[in-house]
Amino acid sequence: MPSSETACTLIGASLIALLLAGYLGQHLLPAPKPKIIGLDLGTTYSCVGIYHAISGLVEIIPAQRNRSCLPSIVSFLSNGTILLGYDAFDYLEINPKYTIYDAKRFIGKEFSSESIEKIQKDYPFELLRKDNGLVEFVISENGTSIRPEQIGSLLLKHLKELVEKYLNVPKIKLCVLSVPAEFDDKQRQSTKQAAELIQLKVERIISEPTAAALAYGFHKMENVRYVLVIDIGGGTTDVSLLSVQNGMFSTQAMAGNNRLGGQDFNQNLLNYILTLIDNKTERVNPILLQHLRIEIEKCKIDLSTVDQCVIDSKWIITREKFEEINHDLFKKILEPLDRIFAYINSDINDNDDDISNRLTVNNIDEIVLVGGSTRMLKIRQIIEDYFGKKPNIQIDPDVAVTHGVSIQAGILGGVWPLNVSATEVRTAVEKIHIET
Ligand SMILES: *[C@@H]1O[C@H](CO)[C@@H](O)[C@H](O)[C@H]1NC(C)=O
Ligand SMILES: *[C@@H]1O[C@H](CO)[C@@H](O)[C@H](O)[C@H]1NC(C)=O
Ligand SMILES: *[C@@H]1O[C@H](CO)[C@@H](O)[C@H](O)[C@H]1NC(C)=O
Ligand SMILES: *[C@@H]1O[C@H](CO)[C@@H](O)[C@H](O)[C@H]1NC(C)=O
Ligand SMILES: *[C@@H]1O[C@H](CO)[C@@H](O)[C@H](O)[C@H]1NC(C)=O
Repeated sequence: MPSSETACTLIGASLIALLLAGYLGQHLLPAPKPKIIGLDLGTTYSCVGIYHAISGLVEIIPAQRNRSCLPSIVSFLSNGTILLGYDAFDYLEINPKYTIYDAKRFIGKEFSSESIEKIQKDYPFELLRKDNGLVEFVISENGTSIRPEQIGSLLLKHLKELVEKYLNVPKIKLCVLSVPAEFDDKQRQSTKQAAELIQLKVERIISEPTAAALAYGFHKMENVRYVLVIDIGGGTTDVSLLSVQNGMFSTQAMAGNNRLGGQDFNQNLLNYILTLIDNKTERVNPILLQHLRIEIEKCKIDLSTVDQCVIDSKWIITREKFEEINHDLFKKILEPLDRIFAYINSDINDNDDDISNRLTVNNIDEIVLVGGSTRMLKIRQIIEDYFGKKPNIQIDPDVAVTHGVSIQAGILGGVWPLNVSATEVRTAVEKIHIET
């Protein structure tokens, strides 16, 4: 038996050795290359990231045309060529019947024939409902069809190969994938298959809001108990209330509006511009409309940094005007938040004892903004006013989820200096739908 004194010395020595290894590692050895990649297979964009050992930095690998992410679009040309991302985006108008987008909306999900008939009206490509209720996309004149997970795998393959080229490694075999919090087992399984189809093993699946919270490191902050994640994309708004304890996340409530997103703000501005057009001298045709839509999107983005923008070199839109036109939409952003608090407190009676158990905005430790539309300054302002504190915006809202899955990949890979744990416990919480 070593005396307690020697035991102490031994521990001391090994600790010093460890610290030294860390120090030397940091200064002398090249960092080991990441083995697990973080993938965000999104409805509109897909992105990939890696966690770097030693520096502890996440890197989002540019996906195409020097942009962080790849539009989740695949175009099948009649000569057999398959185009992805921005290349496919360019074919939306030229090859509409065989240019597939929104595949994630259908992955692992069963539809009735009536609902598919209705949904079909939203898409120029043909949806094929199989007997089991699952949907495939027709991608050729001869009627060949493809499953949503195959579309996903084409996108993931592009992203995986980018990382292989970037890191100069022969083959990436492992990944962490994010999915919407509301995805059920079947949807998760089908998303997993998208990766497995290209020989990528899925080490873990985490929900998107949890990934966004991980991106900000809330798994290792002892004083953070409740995190609210607000995700406003092009067409949808989703809010999730997470609780976190000892690196363990669980979803407490979810609410969303499938009919509220950045596009709605653009549409209001377009309607306004149309009232300014002098119909005698200018004809509103599809070409002008398309041109205006692009100008309006640019203008909206400009208004996040400057006080005014110009549309089509003639109409000046001030931020004030933009906010006035969209006044009602800004108010609607708060609806899912109200619903979350109503839901979480629904078991609590109005007597005095219970009221002190109510969860209020004051209990929310951190607010995270995800999705490009959260760049609108007014949105940041109304959220700040609602909670009485500033939301977290330091990480690019377009890649916050990718950032988080990459950190999860680093944690699973046991990459130094990440020795924290982060896990997600799935709960049976049902999403509250405001409009669908
Ligand atoms: C790509 O983007 C980076 C950073 O935004 C920039 O520094 C670089 O010049 C760009 N490269 C090209 C080819 O546009
Ligand atoms: C298929 O068609 C596209 C667009 O017309 C063209 O760019 C491509 O080179 C063609 N590929 C083959 C294999 O013919
Ligand atoms: C249908 O067309 C696709 C591509 O256009 C081709 O790959 C496939 O072999 C064709 N299938 C049949 C049954 O002709
Ligand atoms: C021009 O026509 C649009 C409908 O196409 C209408 O909404 C708008 O008010 C008209 N503008 C003017 C200045 O009359
Ligand atoms: C690693 O884990 C140990 C024990 O849990 C902890 O004391 C230490 O601070 C951690 N180191 C880092 C860098 O997080």
